[in-house]
Amino acid sequence: MLRRIHLGRLVVVLAVLAAFGFPFSQPLRAQSDLTPEYEVSHDVVPFVPTPTNVAEKMLELAKVTPNDVVYDLGSGDGRIVILAAQKFGAHAVGVELDGKRYEESSARIKELGLASKAKILHGDMFKADIHSATVVTLYLLTSVNAEIRPMLEKQLRPGTRVVSHDFKMSGWNAEQTEEVTDEHGAVHTVYLYTRP
Ligand SMILES: C[S@@+](CC[C@H](N)C(=O)[O-])C[C@H]1O[C@@H](n2cnc3c(N)ncnc32)[C@H](O)[C@@H]1O
Repeated sequence: MLRRIHLGRLVVVLAVLAAFGFPFSQPLRAQSDLTPEYEVSHDVVPFVPTPTNVAEKMLELAKVTPNDVVYDLGSGDGRIVILAAQKFGAHAVGVELDGKRYEESSARIKELGLASKAKILHGDMFKADIHSATVVTLYLLTSVNAEIRPMLEKQLRPGTRVVSHDFKMSGWNAEQTEEVTDEHGAVHTVYLYTRP
């Protein structure tokens, strides 16, 4: 009888774990770089890469130098992180939620010999510790920029440059706006802000 009750409990516990996920199946994260403080935790934007010439313009507008620490929030295939480290000599960090893109971009960084300058964190950008950033790059949506703005205002030091591809940061005044035509003739807008 007692044995049957214990067995019943075990079945219930296993059913709950199966429904809500096993704790050890969560993606690995660099704990020091992610904080549980920010509760939004979902895929908020699909992967659409920034064309290389537009990414270059973003980093040029922010006047990225080897002294900078560049964070790309939602780093996709890592192209902005790689460009910032490879062409501008900066330390660069991407934060990417999608496991496959995290794996692929991390492998690419290793392959290019950039591991001492660039890395990708696997996790939710809303939980990232970006205090050390001197430049932040974004290719999100206007609504997502509005969601992430409080985090930027809380963590970034005044003077940090924030560059957004195609989507404005409402409530902040863009210091510079540039239009860039990609190789297919599409026009992209790049907005440069300085953390007030
Ligand atoms: C439009 S793509 C931009 C990729 C890259 N930054 C670029 O400009 O080429 C947005 C990326 O954000 C990622 N993403 C969406 N929600 C996220 C979240 N909550 N935390 C981290 N990454 C996220 C998506 O997986 C996608 O790769």
